[in-house]
Amino acid sequence: MTRRWSAQVEAALDAVPRTGFLPPSAQRSADADRPLPIGHDQTNSQPSTVAAMLDLLDARPGHRVLDVGAGSGWTTALLAHLVGPTGRVLGVERVPELVVWGAANLAATHQPWAEIRPATPGTIGLPDEGPFDRILVSAGAAQLPTDLVDQLGPDGVLVIPVAGEMLRLQRRGVGLGTTRHGRYAFVPLIR
Ligand SMILES: C[S@@+](CC[C@H](N)C(=O)[O-])C[C@H]1O[C@@H](n2cnc3c(N)ncnc32)[C@H](O)[C@@H]1O
Repeated sequence: MTRRWSAQVEAALDAVPRTGFLPPSAQRSADADRPLPIGHDQTNSQPSTVAAMLDLLDARPGHRVLDVGAGSGWTTALLAHLVGPTGRVLGVERVPELVVWGAANLAATHQPWAEIRPATPGTIGLPDEGPFDRILVSAGAAQLPTDLVDQLGPDGVLVIPVAGEMLRLQRRGVGLGTTRHGRYAFVPLIR
């Protein structure tokens, strides 16, 4: 992968190797810049896409972060590195087997300020745990989920693929600023 990310994102990628978040059959491909299967029709996302999303998210030490679509636990662990022990990261995942496996992968990184929880069917994110400073979504939404936007705190940032386009939304007072960052393919966000 060509390195062109912020120093903080590069340091997180170095500190939290992808290998620990792949099944044994995919570990030899860890350096390949493409999505890799993690079972249950889901993937560990393409590293350059993860890095681009983390750059857009700009998670900082002390932030409270929601990671929707935790999957293998890799993004949750990367976010935990970015926010550090004064921060908090809550991953949420809809496939029960991935909740267990992703949580075990995350635990091996020894960052107890991060955890992965099961998604509640019909609900996106963790509305009872908001507001969040940052929200990362690693599955593609057909439309912007407004109930997830409601979980953003003041000046909060949401990075989410919507209808194949990467969006960065930032709460500004009562409004929301939106910027667009190219087209990406993702597994679907399922409510
Ligand atoms: C690209 S994959 C995993 C990416 C993950 N961040 C990683 O690093 O491995 C996206 C994940 O989103 C999950 N997902 C889809 N809809 C969801 C929802 N509404 N809530 C939580 N997770 C969801 C899928 O089950 C899948 O594991």
